[in-house]
Amino acid sequence: MGSRKKIALIGAGQIGGTMALLCGQRNLGDVVLVDIMEGVAKGKALDLQQTRGVLGFDVDVTGGGTGDYGLIRGADVCIVTAGVPRKPGMSRDDLLKVNLEAITKVAHGIRQHAPNAFVIVVTNPLDSMVYAMYRITGFPKNRVVGMAGVLDTARFQHFVAEAAGCSPQDVVGTVLGGHGDDMVPLVRHCSVSGVPLRQVLDQAKIDAIVERTRKGGGEIVALLGTGSAFYAPAAAAVAMAESYLRDQKRTFPCSALLDGPYGVKGLFVGVPVVIGAGGVERIVELELDDAERAMLTRSVESVRRSVAETKL
Ligand code: APR
Repeated sequence: MGSRKKIALIGAGQIGGTMALLCGQRNLGDVVLVDIMEGVAKGKALDLQQTRGVLGFDVDVTGGGTGDYGLIRGADVCIVTAGVPRKPGMSRDDLLKVNLEAITKVAHGIRQHAPNAFVIVVTNPLDSMVYAMYRITGFPKNRVVGMAGVLDTARFQHFVAEAAGCSPQDVVGTVLGGHGDDMVPLVRHCSVSGVPLRQVLDQAKIDAIVERTRKGGGEIVALLGTGSAFYAPAAAAVAMAESYLRDQKRTFPCSALLDGPYGVKGLFVGVPVVIGAGGVERIVELELDDAERAMLTRSVESVRRSVAETKL
């Protein structure tokens, strides 16, 4: 056995394929793409193998069907996008029934073949799908996490950068709560290289950015006509995997199991966490004012309703 890490991407669709390219380019580890559409997984893997000479990376990219979840055996990280994306006019919660079926199968496969993996769930509705993954795998809470906040924050960063005429890399911000239209972009905690956002943009512009961030996924669904956003979701999930694999201990907003922080118990909700070799190593509890707390409470209630529908 070599010392390379193994990354299983379960779901080889738009996000899965993009993640495979990003993992390869960053030489994060050997990648295996798995999909119910075996040919898609195999074809994308072969295509990606053929980028290696041009792009200059040497990790392996292979692919196969879900008939053999054994392909993920021994994976260090599993990133799950299995399921269907939204169509125009749908909410993320409209996907629950069909995607719960996919997550259930995938969770059994992971439990059997990759029992030590760090699992990142991307499939929507995110906060209830990551909850289902946690319940079905029975993995400890530090090894199951949902990707949402990194993406929502990246959208917020982009909109602020565009309005302020600055680099998105200098926009520091975070988004709390569920991955739905009532997520909570934390304006008070946002700055451009340390300069508070409220000194950079006027309130009307900030309000418009908050609203656009909340509906950021839907805006792209409407434009694409088929499918949902995939470049930024893929980049966000790979950043989380990299922090785990390289023990970077980056602080990211992620959907993590709360058992007390923010006054929430037994739900996966987006909060800042530290991701390192220990998985979700720590939950960071920000001080919230009354308005922020009220928004978070509303968002948590939406998550609670979605989780109840899973009947898990
Ligand atoms: N096991 C493996 N793969 C599956 C399974 C399963 N049980 N069920 C579905 N798939 C595959 C589909 O065949 C498809 O190739 O998952 C892939 C999903 O890819 P896309 O349809 O291209 O969707 P994508 O844009 O990648 O989004 C995936 O992430 O952000 C969320 O809302 C989005 O829930 C959606 C998911």
